[in-house]
Amino acid sequence: MIVDQSLIEQAAQDIVNSKKSIAFTGSGISEESGIPTFRGGQGLWEKYDPMEYAHIQSFIKNPEKVWEMLAEMAEIISKAKPNPAHIALAELENMGLLEAVITQNVDGLHQMAGNKHVVEFHGSNQWLVCIKCGFRTEIKNYSPNDFPPKCERCLSILKPDVVFFGEAIPYNAQVKSMYLAKVSDLVLVIGTSAVVYPAAQIPITAKEYGAKIIEINKEKTSLSDGIASYSIEGPAGEVMPHIVEAVRRLIS
Ligand code: OAD
Repeated sequence: MIVDQSLIEQAAQDIVNSKKSIAFTGSGISEESGIPTFRGGQGLWEKYDPMEYAHIQSFIKNPEKVWEMLAEMAEIISKAKPNPAHIALAELENMGLLEAVITQNVDGLHQMAGNKHVVEFHGSNQWLVCIKCGFRTEIKNYSPNDFPPKCERCLSILKPDVVFFGEAIPYNAQVKSMYLAKVSDLVLVIGTSAVVYPAAQIPITAKEYGAKIIEINKEKTSLSDGIASYSIEGPAGEVMPHIVEAVRRLIS
């Protein structure tokens, strides 16, 4: 795919000119790390019906069944490494040009890449929680042979501390994200179809409060016409390093 160089230069200029920029990411940014996205032909929701495997009521009714999917995801995530798009965002933060990353992803790859300010809007796959007694522990304390993992205290089956359909967004993540959306003047929206709410409200609110929205995605999304100031079409792992290179040229 040929990436539009003039838009790369434009994005770099906008980042350098911005006073407070943030990134809002979705599963597309981790696709090049080998983690499947949710929608589309190869998406996780093609293989697993989200109402059967990702709704909190399904987990409550049949956690063993839901763990068939969770174990597969946990295995893939445990092997995944940050790709050039994650690293590019960490570089922007290091340069003082990115305030925070708000991610819908639960894979921890932004932190692994080096970003310090990461808001995990849908929770984290690195943690397990007991929905009966509230016990919390790290997934690394369990081996794949232990799946489905049991609570040390009450022996119930643990749930990854991620947001299932039918569950609330973690309060702090919700408040912090809405604050960032309102005070930022630039949002890089990377690898999300932006169809799941309330997450998808973040770029919309940012736009309402005057931010420029730059979309980086392999395809057009619901944001491309109307919300995004412009969209750079291409794989994030290719586009983001080009943007960082262009930023470096501008500030050197
Ligand atoms: P989706 O699967 O809905 O969208 C992935 C987006 O990434 C699509 O727009 C793709 O075109 C784009 N994409 C794929 N590969 C890419 C690449 N290499 N570079 C750039 N873009 C790429 O995933 P999300 O938007 O993350 O929530 O989904 C949002 C939420 O829906 C998830 O957090 C999850 C899911 O249900 C919960 O489980 C609560």
